[in-house]
Amino acid sequence: MISVRVPASTANLGSGFDCMGIALKLYTEAKFEETDSGLEINILDSSRDFLPCDDTNYVYRAMKRVFDKAGKYPKGIRITSHTDIPITRGLGSSSASLALGLCGANELIGTPFSHEELLQIAYDIEGHPDNVTPAFFGGFTVAVNHHNRVIYTKTEVPENIRFAAMIPEFYLATKRARGILPKTVLHKNAAFNIAHAAYFASAAAKGDFSAFDVGVKDKIHQKYRFELIGSAEFIIRSAKRYGAMCGYLSGAGPTIISVVDKNHDEFTKKMKGLIATNLKNWKLVMLEPDNTGVVITHHD
Ligand code: HSE
Repeated sequence: MISVRVPASTANLGSGFDCMGIALKLYTEAKFEETDSGLEINILDSSRDFLPCDDTNYVYRAMKRVFDKAGKYPKGIRITSHTDIPITRGLGSSSASLALGLCGANELIGTPFSHEELLQIAYDIEGHPDNVTPAFFGGFTVAVNHHNRVIYTKTEVPENIRFAAMIPEFYLATKRARGILPKTVLHKNAAFNIAHAAYFASAAAKGDFSAFDVGVKDKIHQKYRFELIGSAEFIIRSAKRYGAMCGYLSGAGPTIISVVDKNHDEFTKKMKGLIATNLKNWKLVMLEPDNTGVVITHHD
């Protein structure tokens, strides 16, 4: 039996649309076993109420891509999964499921592919590498489609920062949040994002993550998406007033993330007070960065 654990991730970080992401210590995991025949999927968390347990299951579909590419198939498969990553909230749940299935399948058939090759398969399925790259490798990653090949850089994220995730009860499908974006952007807005993302990434690569307030500035996607998420700008303004370095839309949303110091008691107290009085269908989850990515364990 093989177990695989994959972290959540926060993508875009404001300016780095479709390329930057950070892995977070919140996990989806599964045990994969070869059986004599058939497919058995057991989901051990509340997502079992709406996720399919047949061959249309997303984790299984990812596995099938690996089997088809390798031309190798186990006789039967049992998947037992559990996730703590909220689904469709902008915390990389689908990328984590994808990485989970790809890694589980790869291990079941004797690891024909490297994780770099699995990342490429994930990118081909997902279409943007900003969540799948930190899901595989952990840390802060910048991923680029270079001649149809995903290449990336990884930087360790310091342990002294926390990601204050404000997660609403409602979903926002990535497809919808991408669908409302304009088809073209102004040259000056593209230049603005490139400058802010490059500045943040080059500071971070030297270990300086203090430029988050610069990194999250963006003119190409957040303002359109904020219209789909009432309270987003109010949350960001409040978080900054309570001492956060910044606030941004995590991935395609609807989760809003603020970056704070690891000594965040005062911030947390104020944020929880705000939730109690003004934001009743939101919750605050404090998350640490994950610098490890996928963890695979073989059991006898
Ligand atoms: N970069 C994606 C988007 C995030 O903003 O639509 C989801 O992976």
